[in-house]
Amino acid sequence: MIPPFGHSSPDLQTLKKSKSTLVCKKTFSPGQAYFFVHHRAWLFVTSLFLVFLLIFVTDTPHIYNKSTRLQLFPAPHAEKCESGKVYVYNLPEMFNREFLNKCHELDPWHSRCNALSNNGFGPRATGLAGIVPENLAPAWYWTDMFAGEIIYHNRMLNYKCRTMEPESAAAFYVPFYAGIAVGKYLFTNSSAMERDWHCEMLTRWVQNQQYWKRSNGSDHFIMFGRATWDFRRTNDADWGSSFINKPFMQNITRLTIERSQWDPLDVSVPYPTGFHPRSDADIRQWLNFVRTRKRKSLFTFVGGKRSIKNDFRSLLLSYCYNESDSCRVVDCARTRCQDGTSAIIEAFLDSDFCLQPRGDAYTRRSQFDCMLAGSIPVFFWKRSVYDQYQWFFPSDPASFSVFIDRKDVRNGAISIRRVLESFSREDVRRIREKVFESIPKFLYANPSQGLEISTDAFDIAINGVLRRIKEQRGGRKSNTTKEANERETSWAQYQVDELTVKNLQMY
Ligand SMILES: *[C@@H]1O[C@H](CO)[C@@H](O)[C@H](O)[C@H]1NC(C)=O
Ligand SMILES: *[C@@H]1O[C@H](CO)[C@@H](O)[C@H](O)[C@H]1NC(C)=O
Ligand SMILES: *[C@@H]1O[C@H](CO)[C@@H](O)[C@H](O)[C@H]1NC(C)=O
Ligand SMILES: *[C@@H]1O[C@H](CO)[C@@H](O)[C@H](O)[C@H]1NC(C)=O
Ligand SMILES: *[C@@H]1O[C@H](CO)[C@@H](O)[C@H](O)[C@H]1NC(C)=O
Repeated sequence: MIPPFGHSSPDLQTLKKSKSTLVCKKTFSPGQAYFFVHHRAWLFVTSLFLVFLLIFVTDTPHIYNKSTRLQLFPAPHAEKCESGKVYVYNLPEMFNREFLNKCHELDPWHSRCNALSNNGFGPRATGLAGIVPENLAPAWYWTDMFAGEIIYHNRMLNYKCRTMEPESAAAFYVPFYAGIAVGKYLFTNSSAMERDWHCEMLTRWVQNQQYWKRSNGSDHFIMFGRATWDFRRTNDADWGSSFINKPFMQNITRLTIERSQWDPLDVSVPYPTGFHPRSDADIRQWLNFVRTRKRKSLFTFVGGKRSIKNDFRSLLLSYCYNESDSCRVVDCARTRCQDGTSAIIEAFLDSDFCLQPRGDAYTRRSQFDCMLAGSIPVFFWKRSVYDQYQWFFPSDPASFSVFIDRKDVRNGAISIRRVLESFSREDVRRIREKVFESIPKFLYANPSQGLEISTDAFDIAINGVLRRIKEQRGGRKSNTTKEANERETSWAQYQVDELTVKNLQMY
């Protein structure tokens, strides 16, 4: 069973808000101007009392609940919504919650109920004793890497800059779980129509909304929990859904865990990791923990081989086994890696560097798992990091990561070990500081309202979208070109070949 959605009911909050507005309006009505002038001090005290009474009476059952208190007395910065507020469409349940209610049907082989529980964080992590500090263990979950749609939706319902009045919104969020909707059909022989069905229905619904018609979607945004390539099918026989190629999507900003570098409407946001800090103190403690960690291995590789020709992971795996004095292996053919395990966390915590070949897409969740543990990522494809996550990582990838051309590794021109050994302790320390700088920015915090001080990945993503929409409001045209879509077709073809491999391992 999925627990009730959201930590607190948004409807209840709206009700409370409108109630207090009502009280204020009544107290300060113009008909009582005389009373105002002559009894201002008395009135002030009385209204203060009334407001407190209202708050305490309506909230008595929750008064000791931290999240409720946060909402009543928001941090000073929380009130500023300089780039405007977001309106969340109240979509029919078939576009979001119904997937969670039918979570056992989302994948042809397994139930996804456990993976998508806890507002998308998944089941609580186990087996972390002695690996992470004891009091931080409850902040860890085995989070599914494609759970972003649920995590963003829950946060957005509780967002400090959410508005219930569409007239006053600067941006419109469409909480459609497009990745979860198509996930079921990706690995089976399904028709193009099946893969696009929910997208078609959603398009019809949204296009009928007056605020859509006003802008043709240019102030709308959506979050994709899967990579952009899963929504860019151009031929019926290819991989994925064709959602992004539909006319409906041509003006909508999309947050996605991997963007297309040719499409400025795509914004890449971090894959969720398993660590969801409950407070700013959790982040501070974690940073302190990884900064002072004694690391025993020079580098580590976590991955499984694929049965495809020239599989680069197989090569790294073999290399790592051969270099076992300096490389630590977590072989995903032997360890279940998909949603994270204590073995992975420990391997990254114990290594200075981690090898990050491309995954099924160019990026991998593992990049974030690695950096979270304070290990320095080593990339072999520029596209794993260049043009990705620009709002979250330092602008120069060389400042926080190492790049080694895969061709040099394949033809034996370069030894990964020698390259990594060439970094002095001082270099490693300096690069690692840059990794630490990014950690708070790519985490998804536990409280639905976010943290008090840190801006996490969600805050950064939504602030960024609001800023972009504000800048674009001059009517600048979107830059999604046909040419870009054509260049991506060859990629889509490549992916079909790789992903239709039987008994595929996702990691
Ligand atoms: C997939 O389904 C189509 C039509 O239903 C069929 O023609 C095709 O042979 C199937 N392909 C595989 C690999 O089963
Ligand atoms: C929205 O798109 C339609 C069809 O392309 C066009 O006729 C209409 O003028 C557009 N509206 C705005 C506000 O740009
Ligand atoms: C995108 O928005 C512009 C105006 O903002 C509009 O003219 C255009 O028709 C829209 N495109 C689509 C495909 O709706
Ligand atoms: C690992 O060692 C084996 C046996 O010496 C060798 O055949 C293989 O090529 C090595 N792998 C790599 C990636 O160097
Ligand atoms: C769209 O982007 C491409 C590549 O970034 C650029 O060359 C082109 O001028 C842009 N077009 C518009 C209309 O902004």
